[in-house]
Amino acid sequence: MKKALILSGGQGTRLRPLTHTIAKQLVPVAGKPILGYVFDHICEAKIKKAGIIISPETGQDVKDYLRDGVPWNIKTRYIVQKKPLGLAHAVLAARSFLRDDNFVMYLGDNLLSSGVRTAIERFKKNKSDAMIFLKEVEDPRRFGVARLDSDGKVIELMEKPQDPPSNLALVGVYIFTKRIFDAIARIKPSKRGELEITDAIQELINMGYAVDSEILDGWWLDTGKKDDLLQANSIVLDEYIKNDIKGKIIDSRIMGRVTIEPGSIVTNSNIRGPVKIGKNSIIENTFIGSFTSIGNNVTIKHSAIEHSVILDNARIEGIERLEDSLIGRGAEVVKNAHQHTALRLMISDDSIVEV
Ligand code: G1P
Repeated sequence: MKKALILSGGQGTRLRPLTHTIAKQLVPVAGKPILGYVFDHICEAKIKKAGIIISPETGQDVKDYLRDGVPWNIKTRYIVQKKPLGLAHAVLAARSFLRDDNFVMYLGDNLLSSGVRTAIERFKKNKSDAMIFLKEVEDPRRFGVARLDSDGKVIELMEKPQDPPSNLALVGVYIFTKRIFDAIARIKPSKRGELEITDAIQELINMGYAVDSEILDGWWLDTGKKDDLLQANSIVLDEYIKNDIKGKIIDSRIMGRVTIEPGSIVTNSNIRGPVKIGKNSIIENTFIGSFTSIGNNVTIKHSAIEHSVILDNARIEGIERLEDSLIGRGAEVVKNAHQHTALRLMISDDSIVEV
C-alpha cells in the first residue's frame, strides 16, 4: 500500500467553541494533535504518500502542523475541499492523487489504539475490494452502523440510523480499491446533503464486490464532545506518558509518571501523574492531579486541577478546585481579588460554564 487519504477538513460543530478557532483534527490529546497520531499510524504502516483533504477555513493551520510530512518522512499533497459535501465527495476530490491505486482512508479526528499495518496485510492477503473496521459502542445512532449475518459478513450499512440494527459502529478508517469510484458514481446525497462514504460502501456490497470487515479489539475514541475528549486524554496519558522531566522543578513533589517539556518551571507544587505539561509553562503553589494535560505557555498559580485539559496560553489563578474541564487557548480563569460573590465572565460563543 503506497497511499493514504487523510481527511482533515470539515467544521467540527460538536467541539464548539474550541473549533471556532482550531481545526478539530488539531485539538490536542495528551499534548499532541489527533492528526499527529494518525500520521504516526500511517508512517508505521510504511506508507510514503499522503493526500490530505483540507478546508479553506482551517487548511493553513493543518499545513503548518504537518510541515509537508517531513517529521514522518511522508510526502504530502494537499487537496482543498471547498465545501463539506461529505466523505465520499472528498474521495472524488482526491481522484487525481489516488489514480487507480489502493489506499487507506483515515478520518483525521479518529484516535485508535492500534495502527493499520496488520489490517493492510490482511487486506492484501484476502484480495477484497474494500475493508471496514467496526467497534461496539454505547450509542450507535451517532455513527455509521453495520448489520452482519451469522458468519460475520457485512450485509447492510446505515449512516446514523434512528433505530440501529446493531451496536457496531463504523470506525473512521477504511481500505479501498479503485472500485470505490464506481460506487460513489451511483450514490445520491443523503438527508444531511452529503455524499456519504457509508452509502458508497453499501453500493459496493449491492454491486457484488467483497467488503471485508474487522472488529477492533483496542480502543477507538471519538473526540466529538468535551467528555469524549477528556476520556481520550486520560486513556492516552495512561498509555503513553513516561517519566521525562526536562523543565525545572523547585521545592515541589512529583509523583507517578509526569512529562514536563523544556522551559517550564514548577515551584512549590505537587503533581500526581499521569500528567503532561508542555513548554514554557509556569506552575506555582498548585496541585495538578492525575489525567491532566497542560499546553505551552500556560500559567497556573494557587490552584488545584484534576482530570482536565488546559490548552496553550491559558491562565488559571486562585481556583480552589477545577475538575473535568476543558480550557481553550488563551482563556483565563482567575479568582477575583475582591470579597464579593459575583461572577464576572467574558466567554466565547457556545461556551459552557458550570458553577
Ligand atoms: C463519519 C462517518 C460515520 C463514522 C464516523 C466515525 O461521521 O460518516 O459513518 O461512523 O465518521 O468517526 P461524521 O464524523 O461525518 O459525523
